[in-house]
Amino acid sequence: MNLLKLLDWDSSRISEIIELASEVKETPENYSKGLEGKTLAMLFQKTSTRTRASFEAGMTQLGGHAIYLDWRATNFTLGTIQDEVKCLGQYVDIIMARVFRHEDIEAISGASSRPVINGLCNLWHPCQALGDLLTLKEKKGSLKGLKLAYVGDGNNVCNSLIVGCSKLGVHVSAATPKQYKPLQDAASFGENSGNYSWAESPAAAVKDADAVYTDTWVSMGQEQETKDRERVFPPYQVNGKLMALAKKDAIFMHCLPAHRNREVADSVIDSKQSVVFDQAGNRLHVQKAVLLKLLGKAG
Ligand code: CP
Ligand code: NVA
Repeated sequence: MNLLKLLDWDSSRISEIIELASEVKETPENYSKGLEGKTLAMLFQKTSTRTRASFEAGMTQLGGHAIYLDWRATNFTLGTIQDEVKCLGQYVDIIMARVFRHEDIEAISGASSRPVINGLCNLWHPCQALGDLLTLKEKKGSLKGLKLAYVGDGNNVCNSLIVGCSKLGVHVSAATPKQYKPLQDAASFGENSGNYSWAESPAAAVKDADAVYTDTWVSMGQEQETKDRERVFPPYQVNGKLMALAKKDAIFMHCLPAHRNREVADSVIDSKQSVVFDQAGNRLHVQKAVLLKLLGKAG
């Protein structure tokens, strides 16, 4: 079993992970030997703070071990993905990789005899969406019937949120510029489940939302588009005026790292409504649940 994108997981498996993550969070001592003797390889083409540190700490807390591999310091730069992954599988029990092209994570899983986790690619960020569903559930009590407004770039984080939320009955209303809409695969899935809508206007999307979410306007790998993007996105900034259109008790969410006073105003990310550090914390618990599940130790 792999976790490449949430489209591949049915809603009951996603719910199970959220439940297990809550349990692991509540009683970590019950899981402290859960992955004893197991090793995770963490392969990174891009930089990371949260994903790297939470997976590594998660493995330690489960009694296992994690190896950090910076792609550029490995011989993935010389050999084929297939050959290098087959070798990794001789040493480790599970692989997590952060890559540019989605095709690379597919190639890794295609060649791997071990489970593979997508730690972010240009199209998806499934671990983030799972952590965010746990945060939403904790903050709002239950998920079904909630409305999450995503404002900004229709990127990897947005795509995974649309799919993950739709599967658990949370309506996502996305506001993005026309030329930066979410991936069609994500949008169609959301539309077919009746849990997704798109608007060009942030105000329309945010109306009556339980949660307002944004992410960077320039994702890793898009640096050469910075000038164009910074011309188009300013009307999509989440600021106090926009937050005021959501429900009174709406929460503000961001996967981090944030570009303060670009996609989000300081006054919002530093407000009482902001749950961004809870989101970051929940990455740990949800990923411990994913590791247990993929290694057949979820009970
Ligand atoms: N949100 C997230 O994935 O953070 P990092 O890029 O720092 O891992
Ligand atoms: N959309 C961002 C998310 C970072 C966690 C990126 O891909 O750079």
